Amino acid sequence: MNQEAATFAQIVKARRAVRKYEEEAPFDEQAVQRSLALAVLAPNSSNLQTWEFFRVRTPAAKAEVARLCMNQSAARTAQEMVVVVCRTDKWKVNSRRILANMRHSFSTPLTKRDQRAVEYYQRNIPLLYLHDPFGLMTLLRRILVAVKSMQGPFVRWTTHTNARIITHKSAALAAQNFMLAMQAEGYATCPMEGFDEKRLKRFLKLPRPAEISMVIATGVPADEGVYSERFRFPLEEVVFEV
Ligand SMILES: Cc1cc2nc3c(=O)[nH]c(=O)nc-3n(C[C@H](O)[C@H](O)[C@H](O)COP(=O)(O)O)c2cc1C
Repeated sequence: MNQEAATFAQIVKARRAVRKYEEEAPFDEQAVQRSLALAVLAPNSSNLQTWEFFRVRTPAAKAEVARLCMNQSAARTAQEMVVVVCRTDKWKVNSRRILANMRHSFSTPLTKRDQRAVEYYQRNIPLLYLHDPFGLMTLLRRILVAVKSMQGPFVRWTTHTNARIITHKSAALAAQNFMLAMQAEGYATCPMEGFDEKRLKRFLKLPRPAEISMVIATGVPADEGVYSERFRFPLEEVVFEV
């Protein structure tokens, strides 16, 4: 194993879900910003970057978010929290920005590969993400998938739920980047899904289509912050070769 791999393994192994923090210990708030800069480098579906990160820093905001996280110990004692938000609804504006960036950076005439990339954002992305209250797009996608999949392998995404799941996957990858980066900075984290999403959305003034992926507590770990020994099922039970 090379030195970089060894350092990475060390960071991954050291990360635990920490439920109690030293509230008064010195905390470098810049570490959060640096880690968020690494979070957004996570791979994400179609590079649409349909995520947002809300830093919860003031005592009043922390107290309210802790209350909405059911007063979990990690939330109550965190030195800061980051709310990871899924914005599937931003697919249109973000794909327009990606297209604008392509027009700016691609040389003309477009190569075949660049042309395909432009078409992907002009045609495929709307086909996948367009959502109407009557379910007409879902019906259209179902027909398309039924026809195309008879001819061979075809991606079977048809519903708005598929688009939402895609956004959650990307947000979770960014969250993991953030947690590992904070670990490398010498801080601990705890991802939390135990929260009142409706109230938390209202507190953050988020629009109806926004969804919360997770709330991440972070800070200096207290001695008794890790509740139990790490437990994982044996690798051979979950890793398969085909
Ligand atoms: C999506 C997600 C949600 C979680 N929600 C909570 C939570 O609400 N409260 C909590 O104390 N831990 C939460 N955890 C932490 C897990 O319980 C923890 O990662 C798991 O038990 C494994 O322990 P380890 O992270 O220390 O290896 C969550 C983890 C993930 C990935």
